Amino acid sequence: MAAILELSGVSAHYGRIQALRDVSLTVGEGEIVTIIGANGAGKSTTLMTICGIVKASAGDVRYLGRSITEVRADRLPSMGLCQVPEGRRIFPRLSVQENLDMGAFFRRDADGIEADLGLVYRLFPILFERRKQHGGTLSGGEQQMLAIARAFMSRPKVLLLDEPSLGLSPMISQHIFRIIKNINEERGMTILLVEQNANIALKLADRAYVMETGSVVMEDSAANLRENADIKKAYLGQ
Ligand SMILES: Nc1ncnc2c1ncn2[C@@H]1O[C@H](COP(=O)(O)OP(=O)(O)O)[C@@H](O)[C@H]1O
Ligand SMILES: [Mg+2]
Repeated sequence: MAAILELSGVSAHYGRIQALRDVSLTVGEGEIVTIIGANGAGKSTTLMTICGIVKASAGDVRYLGRSITEVRADRLPSMGLCQVPEGRRIFPRLSVQENLDMGAFFRRDADGIEADLGLVYRLFPILFERRKQHGGTLSGGEQQMLAIARAFMSRPKVLLLDEPSLGLSPMISQHIFRIIKNINEERGMTILLVEQNANIALKLADRAYVMETGSVVMEDSAANLRENADIKKAYLGQ
């Protein structure tokens, strides 16, 4: 499988604090890859380093075969690399529909936008119902759906998701994860998913990386990691 995204030997710092240490990982085209790990392990920093929000202090990030460490963060969405950050940043004073339009704002293919909007509303019927409501009036789960739907509207090649289940009920989380799987299967969209909820992430993903204190300590197929005794004990509560 061709790597669409590849980190090699990436380190990152916040001032003098080293948050990432020699992180290497690859994401193949069409895969769902997850990064699991405890709070503070460096998962979010890994995504932010991919997006250029945090600068790598060593190593390289390659996307579609080219180094993107020098590409400005705000250029990446139009190149097909899109992040849904932790804590769902939607526009609270814009309507649901306007939020979705913002996701597609740099696209020029009106027909494609229309078709994707139809798909989004089929996947998230609740967003269709609430399309004229301000984003800020939605429930937490609905705002997370809107954040994912808005990212989808930019038609990314790779979607980076940071803790989509954070603060949501198990039922809403299940619903959101089913849709992520659906988007991956039907659109062949590649997904890099960061999750503290390892149970759910390892069921969804093809492959997984385990991070501890800024380093990747394990990588394997998600199926193997689910059966791994250390993983069960440390992350799956078994
Ligand atoms: N803005 C920041 N300033 C200083 N340290 C930070 C900042 N953000 C994260 N860190 C530190 O970097 C490490 C990794 O954090 P993070 O990537 O957010 O972990 P995770 O997403 O796995 O919970 C932690 O030790 C955290 O305290
Ligand atoms: Mg985080």
